[in-house]
Amino acid sequence: MTISIICTNKDPKPWVAALRALDPTLDVQIWPNESRKADVEFALCWNHPEGVLRDYPNLRCICSMGAGIDHLLNDDFFPKDLPVIRIIDPLLAQSMYEYLHTAVMYYFRDFDIYKAQQYQSNWKQQSPKAIAHTTIGVMGLGKLGEYSASKFSKIGFNVIGWSRTQKTITGVKSYASDRQLGEFLSQVDILICLLPLTNETRGILNLENINKLPFGACLVNVARGEHLIDEDLITALNEGQLRGACLDVFREEPLSQMHPFWQNNKILLTPHCSSITDPNSVAPQILKNYRLMKSGQALMNQVDPFRGY
Ligand code: NAP
Ligand code: GLV
Repeated sequence: MTISIICTNKDPKPWVAALRALDPTLDVQIWPNESRKADVEFALCWNHPEGVLRDYPNLRCICSMGAGIDHLLNDDFFPKDLPVIRIIDPLLAQSMYEYLHTAVMYYFRDFDIYKAQQYQSNWKQQSPKAIAHTTIGVMGLGKLGEYSASKFSKIGFNVIGWSRTQKTITGVKSYASDRQLGEFLSQVDILICLLPLTNETRGILNLENINKLPFGACLVNVARGEHLIDEDLITALNEGQLRGACLDVFREEPLSQMHPFWQNNKILLTPHCSSITDPNSVAPQILKNYRLMKSGQALMNQVDPFRGY
C-alpha cells in the first residue's frame, strides 16, 4: 500500500518527512516517480495535473493538502466516486486569524492613508472610528471564518457573518443565504472573504455586490482569486466605493508580472501565504485517515464533492 504525494506547486519532501517521522514503515512516494502506480491507494494532492488520478487503478481516497478542495474538483477527470478529505487544523485557523488581524488593523488604524500621506510629506492625523462602531463582515463561517469572526468579536469589533445556513456564534450576528446577502453587505466596513470556491460563490465579489457595501469600505480576500472579478475591483477602487483591498489569492498564481494589481497603490497583495498548511501539524490527521481507510472505517474531515466544499 502506497501513499502518493501528487503536487505541482508545493515541496512534497517535508510532507514525506512528517509522515515518516510518525511511522517509518509507511510507504510514502512522490508523483510522478512512484515505483508502482497500482500500489497507490491514498493520494495527497495539491494542484495535481488534470487527469493524472486516472493513472492509479487502485486509488481509494483523495486528501487535499489544504483546507480547500476546489483544486481537486477543477479536474474534469476527477473520480467523484472516491472519498475526498481535507485539512482541518487549529494551527491553520490561528494562522489565518493572525493574517486577518494584521490586515484589519492596517485599515482600522488608517495605515493605508498614512502610507499615501507619507509619499506626499503630509503630516495629518486621521480619526479612526471606535472599534465597537467598526463592522467586520465575514463571508463564510466555516472552520476558518468562525474562528476569526469570534476572535474579532472578542477584541471589540462589531462582527457579522454570512453563510449558507444560519449560525449561532457568540458575539457574531449571523446572516444566511442569498436572501440576506444585501442586508449583510450594507453594514460592513471591512469585508473578509473566507468562502470555499464553488459554482455558487465563483465571482461573488463583483461590482453589484461591492456596490452594496457602504461607500469607502475595505476588502480582504483570502479565499480564492476566482471569487473576485478583477476588473470590478479596479472600478470600485477608482470610484472610491472601495477604499482599499488586501488580496492573498489570485485567478492566476503566481500573479502575472503584467497584472495591474501590482502597481495599484490601493491594493496590498501577498503571495497566497495567509495560512499555509504545516505538514508536521497535519501529518497525524492524515495518518489517522489513512489507517481508517485501510480498516474500512468512516473517515474524518470528509467533504462532499457534489456540494463543492
Ligand atoms: P469550510 O469550513 O468548508 O466553511 C465554508 C463556509 O462557507 C461555511 O460556513 C459555508 O456555509 C459557507 N458557504 C459555502 N457556500 C456558501 C454559499 N453559497 N453561500 C454562503 N455561504 C456559503 O471552509 P474553511 O475551512 O473555513 O475554508 C474556507 C476557504 O478558505 C477554503 O475553501 C479556501 O478556499 C480558503 N483558504 C485559503 C487559505 C489561504 O492561505 N489563502 C488557507 C486556507 C483556506 P455553511 O456552514 O452554512 O455550509
Ligand atoms: C489554502 O489555500 C488552503 O486551501 O488550505
